[in-house]
Amino acid sequence: MDGKAKMSLQQSHGLSISPEARAAIKSQQPRCIWLTGLSGAGKSTLANALEVRLHGNGLHTCLLDGDNLRRGLCDDLGMTPEARKENVRRIAEVARLMVDAGLIVIVAAISPFRADREAARKLFPEGTFLEVYVSTSFEVCARRDPKGLYREARAGRLKNFTGLDSPYEAPLEPDCDIDTGDLALSEACQRLWALLHC
Ligand code: ADX
Repeated sequence: MDGKAKMSLQQSHGLSISPEARAAIKSQQPRCIWLTGLSGAGKSTLANALEVRLHGNGLHTCLLDGDNLRRGLCDDLGMTPEARKENVRRIAEVARLMVDAGLIVIVAAISPFRADREAARKLFPEGTFLEVYVSTSFEVCARRDPKGLYREARAGRLKNFTGLDSPYEAPLEPDCDIDTGDLALSEACQRLWALLHC
C-alpha cells in the first residue's frame, strides 16, 4: 500500500459520517451562495431575505456576513489588499466547513479580488459554489451610503475604500447578476431562489 492509499484509509477511519450523510439527514443539497459587490450594493439585505425564505421553507442555513465577521473571526484584519485576501480566505474556509456539515451557506462580502474568489470556489466540490454578482453601480451605492462611509472616504478620512482608492474586480462569469438599483428585493430574492433550485 503506498503513502496516498494509507492516508485515505486513515481519513475514512477518522470520519465515519460523510458530508453526503450529513446532507441526506437534512434532506437538502448543501451549497455556498457567495454574494460579491460594492459596499452598499445590497448584499446583506439580499442575503438576509434569501435566508428568511430558505429557513421558512424548512431548509438549514447559515449566513456569513462580512460586516459581522469583522467583529469576531476577522477583527484583527484591516482593509489593505492583503487583509482582504485573508478575510476572504477565512470566510471561504468557514463556509466550506459549513457546507460539509450539510448547510446552505450564504456569504455576503465585498470580496473585491477575482483571484481570491476563485481560490474560494476551488475549496468546494464542483457545482456547490455559486457566485452572485450584486452589480449595483458605484453611483447608486454612493447615493445610498447607508453607513456614511462614501462620505468619509471622499473626505479622505477612510483609506482603501472599495471603488475609490481600492479596486473592485467584477466577476467575469458570475452564476447570477443582480443590480438592486433596478430590481425590487422580492424579485432579486426570487432569482436566487430559482438559482438554488435549478
Ligand atoms: S472585504 O473586502 O474584505 O470582503 P467585507 O465585506 O468583509 O470586505 O467588509 C466590508 C465592510 O466593511 C463594508 O460593508 C463596510 O461597512 C466596512 N468598511 C470599512 N472600511 C471599508 C473600506 N475601506 N472599504 C470598504 N468597506 C469598508
